[in-house]
Amino acid sequence: MEIKNKVAVITGGASGIGAASAIQLAQKGAKIVIADLNEEGLNETLGKIRESGGEAIAVKTNVTLEEDVKNLMDKAIDAFGSINIVIPSAGIFKDSFMVSPDRETGKVKRFMSTENFMAVINVNLLGTFLTLREASKRMIDQKWEGILFTISSINKEGQIGQLNYSSTKAAVALWPKILVGEFHAKKVKDIRVVGIAPGYVETPILLGMKPEVLESIVKDVAIGRLVKTKEIVDSIAFSIENDAVTGTTLEISGGVISKGLAK
Ligand SMILES: NC(=O)c1ccc[n+]([C@@H]2O[C@H](COP(=O)([O-])OP(=O)(O)OC[C@H]3O[C@@H](n4cnc5c(N)ncnc54)[C@H](O)[C@@H]3O)[C@@H](O)[C@H]2O)c1
Repeated sequence: MEIKNKVAVITGGASGIGAASAIQLAQKGAKIVIADLNEEGLNETLGKIRESGGEAIAVKTNVTLEEDVKNLMDKAIDAFGSINIVIPSAGIFKDSFMVSPDRETGKVKRFMSTENFMAVINVNLLGTFLTLREASKRMIDQKWEGILFTISSINKEGQIGQLNYSSTKAAVALWPKILVGEFHAKKVKDIRVVGIAPGYVETPILLGMKPEVLESIVKDVAIGRLVKTKEIVDSIAFSIENDAVTGTTLEISGGVISKGLAK
């Protein structure tokens, strides 16, 4: 599918991978609808797109709220007449061990709160579900061709301290297989589904880390550096343009080494 003149709805568009996707796909001629809770960040992304001659709107959205997500999709259609590319990049993490016994007493002192468990499930899993469901309902009804993405993570393999986050990323890595199967069963031919599983990407959170922490992360990456946001968006663009890519999750990690193997 060509990118030019297609309509892309991107959640998490105020920052990181979502913002980079919006800016790069706009440069390739897509019409962009960005959504996020962070209005200041949305305006910043919008400004960058418009400065370079791109077309975009922003819709303040909480992806965990069904009414917000419905409103986002309706606003996209009002502005640009269709939906073709859906990138649910809104995501959060709230890391801690499930239970942490105290070194001296051996008794559990700290644990992952239900609130922190559910916050990550709600944004990463429910938010992705609502975004893909509300977009694909409209795409199928109107027979718009397109592609749905899920944004997973290399930590879908499992990561200590990320019981909540890794669970959501393992789940959305599986969704391309399930959704492509469902679309096939229902004879929906024109919608592909692709997962992107980034490794450690040059986004504000990672760049803000102490140099020694960053160094300890990068030492286990085969390419010896963080992945650039551009390299993630290039994989998204490749997936859009190559009609044979569907029902799969692509790992774009630079080779994260675990027990001697790229995990
Ligand atoms: N940065 C990495 O190294 C990396 C690696 C693997 C996977 N990922 C995944 O990529 C996605 C984007 O990550 P990023 O690094 O760009 O993060 P980021 O923090 O830069 O951007 C995430 C955006 O999501 C928004 N958001 C959070 N909760 C929201 C909600 N309820 N409704 C709407 N928007 C909400 C935030 O305001 C923020 O702008 C996430 O799903 C993340 O898990 C990132």
